Amino acid sequence: MDGNGRWARERGLPRREGHRAGAESVREVVEACKEIGIKFLTLYAFSSENWSRPPDEIKALMELLERFLRKKTPEMHKQGVRLHAIGRLEALPDTCRSELDLAIAKTSSNTDLDLVLALSYGGREEIVDAVRQIASKAASADLDPEGIGNDTISEHLYTSGIPDPDLLLRTSGECRLSNFLLWQISYAEIVITNKFWPDFRKADLHEAIAEYARRHRRFGAI
Ligand code: IPE
Ligand code: MG
Repeated sequence: MDGNGRWARERGLPRREGHRAGAESVREVVEACKEIGIKFLTLYAFSSENWSRPPDEIKALMELLERFLRKKTPEMHKQGVRLHAIGRLEALPDTCRSELDLAIAKTSSNTDLDLVLALSYGGREEIVDAVRQIASKAASADLDPEGIGNDTISEHLYTSGIPDPDLLLRTSGECRLSNFLLWQISYAEIVITNKFWPDFRKADLHEAIAEYARRHRRFGAI
């Protein structure tokens, strides 16, 4: 979800206004996914690297997240959304974490759309955490190193139990992965749109999915 800052700058507004407008895009895109019948949506809301932003901006983002969860959870619950969070969540402020825990608990038995928030998330960190778990199981002989396969890695990632994405969508025209789901997107179709995230609404999601539908996925076969 990139381009909030540039969206605000274009309008002569503070960056936090861009983040605020971006939260409305989240609401619309979640609703559109429900309507289309998409079962899993992962939103890259805050990366490991985003901790290097100025403290003011981090504070604004965390407050926005907390407010979003408090205000929107009842609506998401009604829509049948089940919330998950991936990342080094222990780094989030306590107030954010407790709001997150509440939202996850409240929506845990929903089945219509699994919404995964990537928070304090980095793909490399995720792989490091998985390797640590696997190594410690191997060291205590709970796991045979010879038996380690792709599934072993997948099962130890934060996304264990969540299927790999079919479509990776990035806004604001940037053509890079920025440490997002590095393992999981090995065969995802990538769609990049020039729109800034706060301008990305339902019609844009429909367009991205139409683009996805035109692709021929061969997974290395012919
Ligand atoms: C994405 O917008 C939001 C977060 C990273 C939380 P940016 O804040 O990266 O916006 P730009 O890239 O400065 O336009
Ligand atoms: Mg950015």
